[in-house]
Parts: sequence; structure tokens; C-alpha cells
Amino acid sequence: MKSSDDFNFDTLVERRGTASMKWDKYKDRDIIPMWVADMDFQSPPAVIRAIQQRAEYGVFGYTLTPEVLNDQVISMLDQTYGWSVNPQWLVWLPGLVTGLNVACRAVGDDGDDVMTAVPVYPPFLSAPGFSRRGLIKVPLMEADNRWLYDFDRLEQMVTDKTRMFILCNPHNPVGRVYARNELAALAAFCNQHNIVICADEIHCDLILDKEKVHIPIATLDPEVAARTITMMAPSKTFNLPGLGCAFAVISDQKLRRSFKKAMAGIVPRPNVLGYTAAMAAFSECADWHAALLDYLRGNLETVARAIQQMAPFSIAPVEATYLAWIDMRSSGIDRPVHFFEDAGVGLQDGNEFCGPGFARLNFGCSRSLLEKALARMQKAMDNFHR
Ligand SMILES: Cc1ncc(COP(=O)(O)O)c(C=O)c1O
Repeated sequence: MKSSDDFNFDTLVERRGTASMKWDKYKDRDIIPMWVADMDFQSPPAVIRAIQQRAEYGVFGYTLTPEVLNDQVISMLDQTYGWSVNPQWLVWLPGLVTGLNVACRAVGDDGDDVMTAVPVYPPFLSAPGFSRRGLIKVPLMEADNRWLYDFDRLEQMVTDKTRMFILCNPHNPVGRVYARNELAALAAFCNQHNIVICADEIHCDLILDKEKVHIPIATLDPEVAARTITMMAPSKTFNLPGLGCAFAVISDQKLRRSFKKAMAGIVPRPNVLGYTAAMAAFSECADWHAALLDYLRGNLETVARAIQQMAPFSIAPVEATYLAWIDMRSSGIDRPVHFFEDAGVGLQDGNEFCGPGFARLNFGCSRSLLEKALARMQKAMDNFHR
């Protein structure tokens, strides 16, 4: 097994001038971008090789989902989660955000409600409105420095028009990997109110806490599976978000039909290079993946140590993702994102996630860049307290 020393996570890849969404935001300013969730690492060598070989072939016609990719996904789901998936249940997508919006259109009618737990990834908050659905935002609760579902609040806030719940597991931005009992309680709530579950599990292969395992909610039991649209992708894990390749697993035929109907004529297939990258990622990159997790665990330790020095800032344990959700509520800093931009660090504003007083820091970058950004933050805090 190779380690993180065998790959190039320490290498600083120049991303300026590549039309990178993350880096172009601060194009002409000395601000280290630590916002949108893509990592600054090159993708695994096997992915780069596979794309080079496909490019050399030189014909880029309309492309069906390669059968071998379906087989890889099915065996991965079986081996990792003991989840036996029929190939017909897979629906390929150009991205999960597309999938979230399709799900909102596929379930219920105009005027119905979609529920989610906040703070959460911003497209969860916009998708219902784009589909003429109401949005019910149930706050997570904070207990003993952990973010938990508040089932009393769910019961208080559910309406008789609530048709879908969008679950984020692992949860961006709070970093939770929900345990079986938490997922079972959520599934019981959805069963009781006849609510479809749209489970965004894009961060499932980024588990940093070695004591935790990801459990797809659809694997709890067949009844839960029948009301669930699960979505996953290789894009976060293998750093391929610009290649647009994701999939949904929908075991219930009626739900799958509604989903496909909502896609019809609008949602394109993933592109050929996205499929190519996905096949290499799923079949040849286990060593790279393990090494990435080691490196991210080291980065997380670096972040946690630095944040501790910046009291009263704090972070709850990050069980998964490469995103730290920093509590800045009691710091006295009015606009934390502007404050740190002025200090040369570009964080993401908690308000976008429905988390006022927080900011999100993406630590998916080389250790030296991370340390530089954290040092800038520390200096700004020292000056603030002076
Ligand atoms: C929870 C979650 N879902 C979806 C996405 C984006 O998915 P895609 O790029 O496939 O649209 C992200 C990216 O940060 C995310 O954190």
C-alpha cells in the first residue's frame, strides 16, 4: 500500500489562469481561496492517464454509460456497504446539484414543501424554490460540541404538504457522519409522514474519523430504500468536479420513472471524459484514496490546532469532508468573511448555509498553503485583540 508520501499532495499546483472558480474569485488580490469545495490537488495519476489515453483516441461522439462503469459501481456498493443494487436502479447525472433540482421537480406538486436540516450546502436551500416548492429549514441542534438532528423540531415543523426531505450525509458543512440510530430515526419520521428521502451522499468516501463508517440511508431496510433517491459521485473524493459525472440509485420503479421524466430533454448525459475518469477512479485509485485520507487527517489536525489558538473560535469534530465549520459567533467580528479577506484568506460565509456567525474553511490543499492561510488568520486575530 502506498502512503501520502508516494503522491504529490504537498506540491503546490498553480491554479491561477486556469479559469478555476475557486481561484478566479480573488484573481488580482493576494487572498488564499479556501471556499468552494474543490481541492487543490491533482487527480490520481491513473485518472490523468485514462483521460490522456481517451483523448489520444480522438473521437468524442455521443457516449452511453459504459457497462463496465455500471458493474464497477454495483460491485463497489456491494463490497463497501453490502448494498445489492440492480443496474436498472442507476441513473447517471452530470452532477449532484442537477440531481437535487430534478428530485424537487420529480416529487410532489407545485406548492408542496421540501424539508432539510440547516446549516446545509446552499443548493439544498435554492432547489425547492426553483421547483415552485416551499422550503422548511429545521435547525440542527448543538449538544456537547456535536451537531444533531432535532426530532422534536422536525415534528413541529412538518406540514401536511411536506413531500421530500433532503438529507446531507456526511453533512456539509458540519462534518457529521450520521450513525445508524440517527438515520433510523430520520427514516422512521419520513415513513410516518410519507416523505421521500433525497440523500446527498457525495462526501461518503471522505470519512476522516476512523471510528465512523458511512451508512447509505437506503441500506437500512427495503421500505426506506423504496422511498429514497441516493446520490453519489467520484467528484469530491478524486477531485473531479469539473468533469461532471454523478449517479443516483433509485430502487422504486415509480419514483425512478418520475425522476427520469423530470430529467427528460433537459438534463444531458455525463460527458465521455467524466465517464473515463470515473472508471479509473473506481478501479485503480484505492492507494491514492487512502493516502488522500491520511493527508486530510493531517490537515485537519493542523486546522484544529490553529483554531484552538484563535479562541473564542471553535470547531466541532470534523468526522468527514475537507471542510471545517468555524464558529465565530462570540468573537465580536461583525463580518468574518470580509475580515479574513482583508487578512488574505477567502473563507465561505456561513449565511449562505443558513449558519450566521460561522465561516467554512476548505482544507483540501497542500499543508504549506494551509499553514500560510492559518498564519494569516492568526495574525489578524492577534491584531484584532490588541
Ligand atoms: C453536499 C454536496 N452536494 C453536492 C455538491 C456538488 O455536486 P456537483 O458538483 O456534482 O453538482 C457539493 C459540492 O460541494 C456538496 O458539498
